[in-house]
Amino acid sequence: MITLDDIRKPVMGRIEAFDRFVDSRFSADGELMGSMLKYALSSRGKGIRPLLVMLSASLNAPNAAATDSPRVNLAAMLVEMIHVASLIHDDVIDEADTRRGAPSVNAVWQSHKAVLLGDYILARNVGIGLESGQFDLVSHICGAMAALCEGEVLQDDCAARHTMTRKDYFDIIRRKTASLISVSVSAGAMAVNAGREAVMKMHSFGEAVGMAFQIQDDILDYSSVKTGKPRNNDLREGKITLPLLCVLERVDEERRRELVDRLSRCATDEREVDYLNGIVVNEGGLQKAARIMHDYLDKAVALLDGYPDSEYRKALCDLCAFIGERDR
Ligand code: FPP
Ligand code: MG
Repeated sequence: MITLDDIRKPVMGRIEAFDRFVDSRFSADGELMGSMLKYALSSRGKGIRPLLVMLSASLNAPNAAATDSPRVNLAAMLVEMIHVASLIHDDVIDEADTRRGAPSVNAVWQSHKAVLLGDYILARNVGIGLESGQFDLVSHICGAMAALCEGEVLQDDCAARHTMTRKDYFDIIRRKTASLISVSVSAGAMAVNAGREAVMKMHSFGEAVGMAFQIQDDILDYSSVKTGKPRNNDLREGKITLPLLCVLERVDEERRRELVDRLSRCATDEREVDYLNGIVVNEGGLQKAARIMHDYLDKAVALLDGYPDSEYRKALCDLCAFIGERDR
């Protein structure tokens, strides 16, 4: 089994330097804001997005010295802090009490302060980006923020109406997750001044990785107790994600209406949650979703074909395998 530590190895020194870079840039005025910020930064998670920036920068750099550019750290910071802020806001929207096994920011300080902390992180992030003068990176990366919001609104609307088509589902995950991941990989190439074609190829690679990443997240919501979040949250929130969608697409209209009806009761009735989880597991919803996820990962790996063998190319291929295997 591939581990993230193995994948990080070729850029480990750079990741440590990046962590110091973030700590030195992100401080807050005021004791309470300082505590909240420290809390948010201390549980940043797997760091997949900055890792993608670093690996893409190394893969596309004309020489090793180019990857030491401060632009690489800046790009990694911009994507990671957008991600951090978006999860803080997401937990407010979802009324989630835990994130990565620890109380969410809203659980500790209430929702209104969590919203403000997320806003503060975004404001500081853009501010630091603009002060750096690296406007190409700032506009490329910060342009993705709108897509995240669009994805969330569409998801919310579908959950409220208990409807979901494949087009809706892929549209949602492309915006809410794949957009920031594709921007992370392409920004890595931009940060080392790679050509337009390489930047676009990295964007396509990141989009495929991002789609797979979110599909696996949606599978794990049904199947894993190791994510640090309660299982079956999507059902409780009335969300139809790919595993359930694959089941709904194959039943007749009457059964579909019954299952959607049960979904609408999941917020308040744990027996309906267990019932729908059982249906998705027993009727092959997880396997079907996994097959689609692997198609995206195959597409991503194929996009690396043109690159010569290197530890960075191997790490990106391994990251694709890791996403397909991960259980947390
Ligand atoms: C997690 O998905 C959430 C996202 C990938 C995006 C959240 C985006 C917003 C709340 C819009 C705000 C945008 C900005 C730029 C601050 P999930 O709920 O499927 O995953 P989870 O199970 O980890 O919560
Ligand atoms: Mg959520």
